[in-house]
Amino acid sequence: MTPANPGPEARTVRIFDTTLRDGEQSPGASMNLTEKVEIAQALVQLGVDVIEAGFPIASPGDFASVRDIARTVSTVTVCGLARCNDTDIDRAWEALAAAARPRIHVFLATSSIHREFKLRMTEEEVLARAVAGVRRARNLCADVEFSPEDAARTEIDFLCRVVEAVIDAGATTVNIPDTVGYATPSQMRHVIASLRDRVPNVDRAVISVHCHDDLGLAVANSLAAVEAGAGQIECTINGLGERAGNCSLEEVVMALRTRRDHYHVDTGVVTQRLVPTSRLVANITGIQVPRNKAVVGRNAFAHESGIHQDGMLKERRTYEIMRPEDVGLERTDLVLGKHSGRAALADRAAALGYRLTPEQLPTVFERFKALADRKKEIYDGDIAALCEQQFAALPEHFTFEGYSLSCASGSAPTVELRVLQSGAPRSVTVTAGDGPIDGIFLAIEKLTGIQTVCRDFRVQAVTVGKDAQAEVTVELEQVDGERPGAVHRGRGVSTDSLEASAKAFLAAINRVALGGQPRLHPQRT
Ligand code: KIV
Ligand code: ZN
Repeated sequence: MTPANPGPEARTVRIFDTTLRDGEQSPGASMNLTEKVEIAQALVQLGVDVIEAGFPIASPGDFASVRDIARTVSTVTVCGLARCNDTDIDRAWEALAAAARPRIHVFLATSSIHREFKLRMTEEEVLARAVAGVRRARNLCADVEFSPEDAARTEIDFLCRVVEAVIDAGATTVNIPDTVGYATPSQMRHVIASLRDRVPNVDRAVISVHCHDDLGLAVANSLAAVEAGAGQIECTINGLGERAGNCSLEEVVMALRTRRDHYHVDTGVVTQRLVPTSRLVANITGIQVPRNKAVVGRNAFAHESGIHQDGMLKERRTYEIMRPEDVGLERTDLVLGKHSGRAALADRAAALGYRLTPEQLPTVFERFKALADRKKEIYDGDIAALCEQQFAALPEHFTFEGYSLSCASGSAPTVELRVLQSGAPRSVTVTAGDGPIDGIFLAIEKLTGIQTVCRDFRVQAVTVGKDAQAEVTVELEQVDGERPGAVHRGRGVSTDSLEASAKAFLAAINRVALGGQPRLHPQRT
């Protein structure tokens, strides 16, 4: 990265991305295997140092994603999470063994509240278990990270003892989590400074920080830890994560870069990849970034007031502390039309961060042409949506074919719905529901025989204009079958918002029909 403010000699801080593990613990953010591998590839291009790919013991799906990412990513460390017991650690290693740079991340709670109520263990028992876990992991893997869970609420004397013991046992990184987002910046600075002052072998490991955002302080706390000498920051794209989320990667990286004069720290992040990576994660998870979010929000560089606009025209730096191009925000938006060819589409997709393979390009091009027939102007957002549909494609048991609908206010709509079920045409007609969308959902339930409860339904325009494509995201809770209570996400995009709704609903129903494995969250030690 080219530093914005050259200053005195800078040290390098590692960026440990946990979007695929802690980020996936965001309610509603679960991703399939193809989506996780796609995000891992984007993280490699972004230049992170470590990818935490999952929690292998949690489910067969988590195991497969860690294993597949370990097999495909060779230039970046791939990490798998494990509770501090032999079964978890061995399973993590099984998933990671093929990695060029594997890391096992072992965690065990250390705070008094967790010791007393969750683990029912004494300090000495916790210490012994931590050492045994790290030793076992070190016998398998040269790179071992240990996290004393809830470190920020752990008595500092005990934390120092644990850190010293796990480093002696072979931990190469010791991560200090603020698991419940309770810390303040000065406290975090004090914890890291105390470890560096009081733990005699501290120089044999990298001290890391992992902050949650319950009080909106995750980025500030991580930066304070860096001021005190932390050498690794754990963070996620768009700040995804358990509850209120984790430290946001894009914010912490741009704070370090923009205020290099203060922090004297570099990272290996290619900042021009921040916006494309943020959009990719938002589209895959269905969790959209608020417009006013720092660095990657749509309004982050939009100047509304006349005074600001006037200042900007005279000298950008009057109101702009970062350049939009440095975070990968494209200034040109209107790009392609009906007559654009395959090469132009592939070029534009690549500029937006989507590498279409020779097998993917024809399908995306065919959909692009169909869209150009329905819509005059094709924007970057449209191209991103087309590429993402391709990357996120799952095997489909039910494929949307079409619908016809008649409705009037005050009476139930009549919907005729047509799908292909494993290639064979099927249709159904229903007269039911409160309006057209409810009618379409009821028709889909009747035709597929799969009952769900709709937990979330969101529509947003992919781009601007009356002919903009609608992007619909739904979350459906399974009512019966093997996994009652499981929540499945679906996404559909079309210039017709009813068609987009039908596609989103069917995408989620396909996830129910094709089954999925329940996940076990790491906090359930
Ligand atoms: O927040 C936390 O404590 C964690 C650990 C597993 C590192 O996510
Ligand atoms: Zn966490």
